[in-house]
Amino acid sequence: MKVWHVVVVVVWCVCGGAVTGGVKEVAIGASECQMKNTELHCDYTDVEQTVRVSTVGVNDPTITRVVLSNARQLEVSVAVCINLTLQAVTQAQVAVDEGQECRERQSCVGDQCEGNNYDSLEFSATNTGLDHIPGWATKIHLDHCRATSLALKNHIQSLYVANSDIKVLDLANPLDEGSSAKLVSTNIHTLQRLHTGPGSRLELRQSTIDVLASQGLVFNGGHVELVSSAVVTVMDKGLALGSRATFHIRGFSGHIQIHVLDNNNEGGCKNSDDIYFWLFIVLVPLMTIILAALILVECVRKRRRSRYLGQSHSYVFHKPT
Ligand SMILES: *[C@@H]1O[C@H](CO)[C@@H](O)[C@H](O)[C@H]1NC(C)=O
Repeated sequence: MKVWHVVVVVVWCVCGGAVTGGVKEVAIGASECQMKNTELHCDYTDVEQTVRVSTVGVNDPTITRVVLSNARQLEVSVAVCINLTLQAVTQAQVAVDEGQECRERQSCVGDQCEGNNYDSLEFSATNTGLDHIPGWATKIHLDHCRATSLALKNHIQSLYVANSDIKVLDLANPLDEGSSAKLVSTNIHTLQRLHTGPGSRLELRQSTIDVLASQGLVFNGGHVELVSSAVVTVMDKGLALGSRATFHIRGFSGHIQIHVLDNNNEGGCKNSDDIYFWLFIVLVPLMTIILAALILVECVRKRRRSRYLGQSHSYVFHKPT
């Protein structure tokens, strides 16, 4: 009996603790929040608890943006799929996802999607510390931030980072037509990948990269400017330049070797002229040999056939006597 009492007391303590000391949900009706036109603004100046923004509180098609200010500790759940602005958040923990969930929330028929445009969502933060960037964000704006990882897996439309400190920057996809990245007065510890394609823009101004990884900056097109910036350590082939990119460099400090991309290799293809040449060299003698062999075989067969042609066998059966 005594054991059961202890279990009941323990369970009661755990549940009670979760309710009273737990997490504050961002929601339309919450006391810290108010609607301003279509934007939900929440201020957590006097709140010590962890704040959580999840689909539960903000799944409302009338909200076009959520603005959260002065939280100590913030949790951003996956699939929030909303334009999100953070102001003076001490530490934000962002759940990492691929951004797929946002598209699943839309009613899409083929490529045509109804309702909110989840393909173009903004994440912006000022005076904030954060670990990751939400996977659904395609427009990112950071000012006076500390970020552990800007590992971005989707296609970025715009990336603007100013006065910030970033541990790792890694864009899985090259900046494509119409997209841009601008880093101003920012320190990046490791630049893993930041590639440009045709029609894109990249600008690094008064910024420092401590370590530029191998093939970290690959310019396969677009317009690139490096102004009053520095790269401290460059790995082998850290910066590569293709003929379709324009590259301006001004007030650069440090030593950098520019690896010039072979035009024929830019599209990811092998040097095709070479392949045809070797095919020709190998195929012509091979075809000659095969043809000669075929003629020879045919001749031998004809001869054999003619040798057997005149022969005949006759069998005589005798009736037994
Ligand atoms: C996000 O914000 C942009 C403009 O800032 C707006 O056009 C778009 O509809 C918003 N998206 C959602 C899903 O609210």
